[in-house]
Amino acid sequence: MKGLILSGGKGTRLYPLTYTNAKQLIPVANKPVLVRVIESIRDAGVDEIGIVIGQTGPQIQELIGDGSKQGVKITYIPQLSPDGLAHAVKISRDFLGDDRFVMFLGDNVIQGGIGQLISDFAKSDWNSQIVLKEVENPTAYGVAKLRPDGSIEQLIEKPKNPPSNLALVGIYMFDPHIWEAVNSIKPSKRGELEITDAIQWLVDAGHRVFPHVHKGWWIDTGKPTDMLEANSLVLEELIPAVAAGVTVENSEIDRRVTVEKGAKIINSVVRGPTIIGENTVIENSYIGPFTSIYHDVRIQNCEIERSIVLENSSLADIGTRMQDSLVGRHATVRRTDSKPKSLKMNIGDHSNLWVV
Ligand code: G1P
Repeated sequence: MKGLILSGGKGTRLYPLTYTNAKQLIPVANKPVLVRVIESIRDAGVDEIGIVIGQTGPQIQELIGDGSKQGVKITYIPQLSPDGLAHAVKISRDFLGDDRFVMFLGDNVIQGGIGQLISDFAKSDWNSQIVLKEVENPTAYGVAKLRPDGSIEQLIEKPKNPPSNLALVGIYMFDPHIWEAVNSIKPSKRGELEITDAIQWLVDAGHRVFPHVHKGWWIDTGKPTDMLEANSLVLEELIPAVAAGVTVENSEIDRRVTVEKGAKIINSVVRGPTIIGENTVIENSYIGPFTSIYHDVRIQNCEIERSIVLENSSLADIGTRMQDSLVGRHATVRRTDSKPKSLKMNIGDHSNLWVV
């Protein structure tokens, strides 16, 4: 069995964070989502993995390299234009050969990994397995309509009038029958070769597609609110650890806090689940639950809760508690007492600032 991760796309809904960075590389609980995806495929026993890359390919290659850090062997497959998920499968033909494979969208985070799903598929005579999850907003996803006996009747990509609340999770398993399917379908209205249509083709051709309904949580980290939600869920599951040699002075840190190497926490209160990254300094501050502060960040005289702060940023003397926020890399947030007393900002395109 091989793995295929789709890691293209521009991530427009996560602008400005994704102007300069691939969306799959944004960390959740201080680990890029793509690394989490690679690890869950590896932990399910699959170590030959292809990654389909687009415009942001060079950043992905720089971080992941040949995969040896994660104990896997990575092959990069460039997709020259974003022509759809089924197109990404098509161009991976040489890498996948006639193996069965699991395809995982590089921005999906799922509770409990995929070990059970892979072993169920390996033991079965199914031609494909898909994963479904009940959601509140099915119009944002591919949606499945099941028959009373649980088999798949219809799959529709982002329907205006969804026939059910069962969304297609971005994890799919296929055998070589998928090749005929991706070569038979035509581009959708939005001009893409949809994987949803390829799976519908398999169903219509009488192949066995098993729908597994997932009971745990699942997040497609497409939007800032999804990032914060995924961050909270992953932090809740993180086994807390304080690295050797961190500095903690005159501070209160509860047992659900992870502190990475070289971090310094001085005169502060940190309540978990929270993670403080390598060489980050927290001084005279309160860091509340569901917060991930990445590496080399400096926080002084601030109160921060349920937020993600990326590397090399600096926050000082903000004066109001900051929450539900995403702060990118090399960003500065600080209070100023200079006159005239006014809000001053230097924020990037597509940034959002909520003023109280
Ligand atoms: C894609 C698929 C959709 C699926 C979703 C899961 O949508 O087309 O069927 O439900 O991933 O993350 P996208 O996120 O590319 O809009």
